[in-house]
Amino acid sequence: MAKKSRSVWICTACERGSSGWFGKCSGCGAWNTIEERTAEPESGARVVLSTGVKNRAVPAPEASQAALQERRLATGITEFDRVLGGGLVLGSLVLLGGAPGIGKSTLLLQACAGLARSGSRVLYASGEESVSQIGGRATRLNAAPASLLLMAETRIETILDAAAEHKPAVLVVDSIQTVYSDSQEGLPGNISQIRAVAGHLMSWAKSRNIPVLIVGHVTKDGQLAGPRLLEHMVDAVLSFEGDDERATRLLRATKNRFGSTQELGVFEMGGVGLIEVKNPSEAFLAERPGQAVGSCVTASLEGTRPLLIEVQALLSSSPRGGNPRRTCVGTDPARLAMLLAVLERHAGLAVSDQDVFVNVTGGMRLREPAVDLAVLLAVTSSHKRQPLSPGTVVLGEVGLTGEIRSVPRLKLRLTEAARLGFTRAMLPKGRKATEHPGLELVLVSHVDEAVDLAF
Ligand code: TYD
Ligand code: MG
Repeated sequence: MAKKSRSVWICTACERGSSGWFGKCSGCGAWNTIEERTAEPESGARVVLSTGVKNRAVPAPEASQAALQERRLATGITEFDRVLGGGLVLGSLVLLGGAPGIGKSTLLLQACAGLARSGSRVLYASGEESVSQIGGRATRLNAAPASLLLMAETRIETILDAAAEHKPAVLVVDSIQTVYSDSQEGLPGNISQIRAVAGHLMSWAKSRNIPVLIVGHVTKDGQLAGPRLLEHMVDAVLSFEGDDERATRLLRATKNRFGSTQELGVFEMGGVGLIEVKNPSEAFLAERPGQAVGSCVTASLEGTRPLLIEVQALLSSSPRGGNPRRTCVGTDPARLAMLLAVLERHAGLAVSDQDVFVNVTGGMRLREPAVDLAVLLAVTSSHKRQPLSPGTVVLGEVGLTGEIRSVPRLKLRLTEAARLGFTRAMLPKGRKATEHPGLELVLVSHVDEAVDLAF
């Protein structure tokens, strides 16, 4: 006798189960997302992690030896390889997320062409575009070597059959939201489809030791569409960011089992695809007018790489009676509020009745406290209507008592500043500060001192 299947109700947005149908999910608050499903053991997508004939526990030294021998494939796009941690690890599953139109397909096509040119066969399966569309783009990008195989397909089983036939060194699936598996019901892009497709790709990657790259769309608020589970399943999650107004594109790893998540890759979208920006500092400072009021340059560390970035601030009197506005692009509003309070209390600058706008140029986001003093001095410069001394780069974390704290990897940052022609550096007074070739060092220990010496 056939086993009677039981119904369960699950939210398609957050996967929370509930006792019955509700209009609104009590987990995530979404409306009309609860679906009835039959609780049967899922078929198909079982993940195979180990391929050894007999599985055994391995002593740590042996395992680390194995890690050292981990092989990587370089795509030849240095910015991409660096964010991956030195190329694609064999057998790894990498998810590339980003907003529609940001350039994910372009990036992967260029990376695939790089791999194909160095002799690896690559299979690029797209569920979004026809072969002639991808082919046309590959031709325009000058990225159509013979060992790059293109396929337009949305059924994962067919894609894996083609992969079994052609034995590529790398497989690309663009995008996971458009691909479905026979083992599941429902339209491509729903949670069980995404999970099943990712499961198939994962077993495939691990059992054959072949890297698989998956494209994933992000929703309006920047989250990867689909279950969080997808992020847990893959070995690395890369995110490709940028905005419509600018051609600059930033590639970061938000998760990486084989490398750091600090590295940043910088590209520019041009007429013939993505161009690597090998000298982002120069690019970010290119449009900077010398001697501008409200502008301050700092050196921020992104992974191993120091980047010179301009912080701009504008103050204007706030209409009386209302709350003054604080608008930040590229910095943390809470951090700005703290810096303004420190400025008012410890440097005697009245900013509480001013609207404050802070902008980080080049579409960058400043995330480390080492840039505090630069934000503070940009605000001060706008307040005083006076530019900072020419050629100055500013570094230092600001504490609540107005003290300037030390920053990590100082030498690396100073070297980059000197290389780009800066002549003066304002730094925290501390043991680390000595001297630096080509730079006059101005050592400060408190914000009032910094405000005096900066102009
Ligand atoms: P695409 O890689 O299709 O984005 P995604 O896969 O993330 O959706 O890139 C689409 C955009 O990139 C498109 O709006 C046009 C632009 N683009 C260029 O500006 N130059 C180029 O050489 C290419 C190929 C695309
Ligand atoms: Mg695309």
